[in-house]
Amino acid sequence: MVLNQTRMKSATQSADWPPLRSATAHLWWLKLSPAEADAALQDILSPAERRRARQLRRPGAASRFCLGRAHLRRILGEYLGAPPESLQFAYTPNGKPYLPEAPRLSFNLAHAGDLGLLAVADGRHVGADVELPGPPARWLAIARRCLPESERRRLQALPEEARARAVQRSWTRQEAFLKASDQASLRRLLRLEMPCAASPGQFTIRDAQGCHWLAQDVARAGAIGALVVEHRPNERLEVLSFAWPGRERL
Ligand SMILES: CC(C)(COP(=O)(O)OP(=O)(O)OC[C@H]1O[C@@H](n2cnc3c(N)ncnc32)[C@H](O)[C@@H]1OP(=O)(O)O)[C@@H](O)C(=O)NCCC(=O)NCCS
Repeated sequence: MVLNQTRMKSATQSADWPPLRSATAHLWWLKLSPAEADAALQDILSPAERRRARQLRRPGAASRFCLGRAHLRRILGEYLGAPPESLQFAYTPNGKPYLPEAPRLSFNLAHAGDLGLLAVADGRHVGADVELPGPPARWLAIARRCLPESERRRLQALPEEARARAVQRSWTRQEAFLKASDQASLRRLLRLEMPCAASPGQFTIRDAQGCHWLAQDVARAGAIGALVVEHRPNERLEVLSFAWPGRERL
């Protein structure tokens, strides 16, 4: 199968599908409610995906995984003008999925409960993370273990009721950065200096290799997430958000 890369560079297959322009990232909020999983979804998954689903033991995990992959395939298939079941994923040594036959179509999926977040961009690395609120004590423990010391100090100065949410925001930024830069196995890098996470925002960061990234905090239905996308200096990058199934612009 050869996907239409030339078409992909500027637009998409179906006329009413949102065009993926070069200085744009698309964010898709996905519904991963297990109740909506049906046999038809299974048909578009690969044998390897179905095998992986069978190994997931936590209640709801298998159907959420299947739904996530099915939505991922359908959305990417729309960008490429290809049937969802024809897409063949490969994985980087760190486990990040990509499409060898459509290398310009960058994407990254994250899930939290019944919510999924998919970042898509044309020819630039992207990463997404999303987390449900959860108990504040869990976030405070994560802050102690994982956040840079400067950020921990700034978060410590916040009123107690705002602290867990800020840690959650900080964590999703760091995870989205690791996922974008495909360094998720290098835990020690989870120490990148970023602006204080007390309030949501959009900002640019420069990593140790001198690469520039745009980071944007996002939120929906009580969950907090982050998108990190490769950014060229002095570039104005637009982030467009949509809900799926459907393609409602948010
Ligand atoms: C890979 C990792 C980022 C996934 O995070 P997660 O919270 O478990 O899961 P998310 O919902 O955010 O993302 C999972 C999706 O990311 C994608 N993914 C998997 N490995 C990836 C990687 N190495 N890089 C980017 N994306 C990856 C997949 O699409 C996966 O979903 P799927 O398999 O259902 O398609 C995480 O396991 C990890 O290694 N984190 C490193 C940071 C860390 O160890 N922190 C602790 C420090 S104290």
